[in-house]
Amino acid sequence: MTAEPTSAQFSAALRSLTWQDHEKAEYTDYTQALLQGRLNLAGYTALVAQHYFAYVVLEEAAERMRDDAIGSLFVFDSLFRVPALEKDLEQLLGATWREQIEPSASTQEYLNRLRETCFDWPGGFIAHSYTRYLGDLSGGQFIKKAVQKAFGDTAVAFYDFPRIPDHNAFKARYRALLDEVSWDDGERQRVIAEAVLAYQLNTKVLAELGRDLAKYLA
Ligand code: HEM
Repeated sequence: MTAEPTSAQFSAALRSLTWQDHEKAEYTDYTQALLQGRLNLAGYTALVAQHYFAYVVLEEAAERMRDDAIGSLFVFDSLFRVPALEKDLEQLLGATWREQIEPSASTQEYLNRLRETCFDWPGGFIAHSYTRYLGDLSGGQFIKKAVQKAFGDTAVAFYDFPRIPDHNAFKARYRALLDEVSWDDGERQRVIAEAVLAYQLNTKVLAELGRDLAKYLA
């Protein structure tokens, strides 16, 4: 990591110092097949299932963070994804969906890190929340279009934020909140490092899905 100053505009530093890792998440074989509409429904379902496990833990952590002075500023019920993922999985796999899915090895590693960092450390919770939710509000919207093109309106509740009509305004507010937190430079560096790790853990999940790509191609 470069020694770029993080104090002036923390949100800008967070974005620029994680962007290289963003590119890696965006350009996995699996992500590209998804974006290009080359996956079959089982291939898409595999991602929805892995998302489910991660968001359950992240949103359990959010409940814990409601009592934290800093963490609570970043708990937005309007972002919560678990109800939408449950709906999507029921649509994709039927009423017995819970019995049909399990976390992959990479998801297990991601869940372990979420449990280690997001329940007692607001910076960790914020790093992981930022990496997922701002992504869902950004690139997620491109994925939604690709999924709709491939499968119609099947199981895209995950990408809908009915209580956030203006994504850009929400992201601007989230970035302003990041800039306002009174963290010293050391803590800011730790949060950025955790966001880098969050990207890497997500990329591993996607890479593992990519190992089954032959089975998942339409
Ligand atoms: C599927 C491929 C993806 C595409 C096409 C994509 C595209 C984008 C684009 C265009 C933006 C900029 C939006 C803006 O300036 O407001 C963005 C932002 C973001 N994406 Fe992605 N993305 C993808 C995958 C991911 C993944 C897998 C993650 C996380 C694991 C992620 C996390 C983020 C985050 C956190 C931001 C906000 C960065 C910031 O402004 O601070 N993206 N993405």
